Amino acid sequence: MSDYIIKTENLKKSFNGEFVVKGIDLKIPQGGCFGLLGPNGAGKTTTLRMLLGRSPLTDGTMEVLGLEMPKHARRVRHDVGVVPQSDNLDPDFTVVENLEVYASFFNIRGDVIKKRIKELLKFVELNEKAGTRINQLSGGMKRRLSIARAMVNEPRLLVLDEPTTGLDPQVRHLIWARLRELKNSGTTLLLTTHFMEEAERLCDDIVIMDYGAILSQGHPKQLIGKHVEPEVVEIHGELETLPKSLIRTALDRVEIVGETIYYFTDDPGKIIEQVENRPNIHYLHRPANLEDVFLRLTGRELREI
Ligand SMILES: Nc1ncnc2c1ncn2[C@@H]1O[C@H](COP(=O)(O)OP(=O)(O)O)[C@@H](O)[C@H]1O
Ligand SMILES: [Mg+2]
Repeated sequence: MSDYIIKTENLKKSFNGEFVVKGIDLKIPQGGCFGLLGPNGAGKTTTLRMLLGRSPLTDGTMEVLGLEMPKHARRVRHDVGVVPQSDNLDPDFTVVENLEVYASFFNIRGDVIKKRIKELLKFVELNEKAGTRINQLSGGMKRRLSIARAMVNEPRLLVLDEPTTGLDPQVRHLIWARLRELKNSGTTLLLTTHFMEEAERLCDDIVIMDYGAILSQGHPKQLIGKHVEPEVVEIHGELETLPKSLIRTALDRVEIVGETIYYFTDDPGKIIEQVENRPNIHYLHRPANLEDVFLRLTGRELREI
């Protein structure tokens, strides 16, 4: 038995001979929130599906909850909750029926299930929708129901694939609050996201991956410290009016994207004194964040899949 709730070695997946997961090693300790970050097509969902025994691995080894996978997939599923990337609720049933049907897969006593479902609906603020059909729910309600469903078996590990993509800020904040509560109560969370704010708020440890490989791992603050200078001055406006020396002095720390210069620095004062009080030049001074790291590691080109 390892101390990790998830451990993989050299995990690989190929489709039609093309590797989309290229040998990744993950060690996810029990407790806390682990984030898997990467642009579209990075291999996040494929990795999760292998870990859950839903997609056969091409090579490597993996353990979930200390059990070899996919050999022990049935046992592991008993202690794991899954919120898939796209909601797969049963449209023929109501909110409460969806939870009841799902709960019936686990050997839980009827009265226990009833009580738990009531608590879960309250937890995700859907108690007033108990008798509503799925097609009458908004996207945010469906996602909250998917989270409640994943909690029915009181899992030790909750896996969430882009839990807040496509949701409005109100729902997103509610979901963050609930996930934080779950984390504080001892449930281990594994989530994928491309919301850096989400990862920064929730995750204790993050892996950034792209093209099926891990690029970096660490606590959000660690990653920021490791990959980018601590402060950023964003400059836009009539850039041609700026002194040429401003850009030349530290080309390695400057990124020019369209009409904006991103100046990564540990001495923002020096830059600000050259750009302030110039007509037609605007600047924003801010601390470096995880999004800067993400873009530095995965590049700025668009991924439209
Ligand atoms: N069933 C499949 N057959 C062929 N290619 C697939 C299949 N599932 C995923 N892929 C490819 O694998 C790559 C990784 O996809 P995915 O794991 O969904 O990425 P992510 O979740 O990070 O956006 C993509 O290039 C995708 O097109
Ligand atoms: Mg995905």
